[in-house]
Amino acid sequence: MTSRLIIALDFPSAELALNFVKQLSPSTCKLKVGFELFVAAGPDLVRKLVEQGFDVFLDLKFHDIPNTVAAACKSAAKLGVWMLNVHASGGDKMMLAAREALAGFQLPPKLIAVTVLTSMDQAQLEKINISQAPEQQVSDLAALTKACGLDGVVCSAQEAQQLKAQCGSEFLLVTPGIRPVGSKQDDQSRIVTPLAARQMGIDYVVVGRPITQANDPLAVITAINFDLV
Ligand code: C5P
Repeated sequence: MTSRLIIALDFPSAELALNFVKQLSPSTCKLKVGFELFVAAGPDLVRKLVEQGFDVFLDLKFHDIPNTVAAACKSAAKLGVWMLNVHASGGDKMMLAAREALAGFQLPPKLIAVTVLTSMDQAQLEKINISQAPEQQVSDLAALTKACGLDGVVCSAQEAQQLKAQCGSEFLLVTPGIRPVGSKQDDQSRIVTPLAARQMGIDYVVVGRPITQANDPLAVITAINFDLV
C-alpha cells in the first residue's frame, strides 16, 4: 500500500517547490499541485515531479464546457499525473466527457470531483439560487459524480462518513483540513487529525503547511503515515 498522504505543494515558484521536494520520497507521500504553483511553474514542473517517481494530484478543478474539460483532462493525463479533478457542478455531460477522455489511456489518472467548495455556506449558496442545505447539495453532487463513473470526491471530514455510507467503500474520499495533534490550525476552520480521518474511512488526506512549514518535515510525514495505515 502506497502512502495515503498527499502533500499540498503550495509554493509560488518551481524553484521553491523542487527545493522542498528534494528531501521527500515517493514511497512516503504523494504531491498535490494546485493553482498557485501550476500558474507559476506550469506543466514542466509537473513532468519533473512525475519523472522523480511521485504520484501527482493535479488540483485544477476543471469547470467548463464538456469538450474543453475533456481536452484538458487528456492534456493532464499525458503529463502522467496520478489524479486530477473537475467540479461536479459542471454537470453530468461534463463529467462523462472527462471520464471518456481518460478511458483510452493505459494507466488513466484517477478522476475525482469537487462537490461544494467548503468556503460556500448556506448564505453563499442562496446567492447563486441553491436553496437546499450545503450537506444535501454535497450528497446530491456526490451521487451524480458516482453515477458518471468517476472515482470519488474531494470532501471535508465532516462529510466523510455520510458519503462513504452513501457511495460505498470503493468511492474515494480525498480530504483537506487535516492537522496533526499539536500543529497550527492556520486558516482551516474545522480540522481533524490524520488518525480521525482514517477512522472516518477517508482514503487520502491532503496536508500542506503542517509539513511544508515544519522545522522537520520528515518527522511530521513519518508521524502522519503511522496514523494513516
Ligand atoms: O496548508 P493546508 O494543509 O491548509 O493546505 C490544504 C490544501 O488543501 C491547500 O492546497 C488548499 O487549497 C486545499 N483545500 C482546502 N480546502 C478545501 C479544498 C482544498 O484546504 N475545501
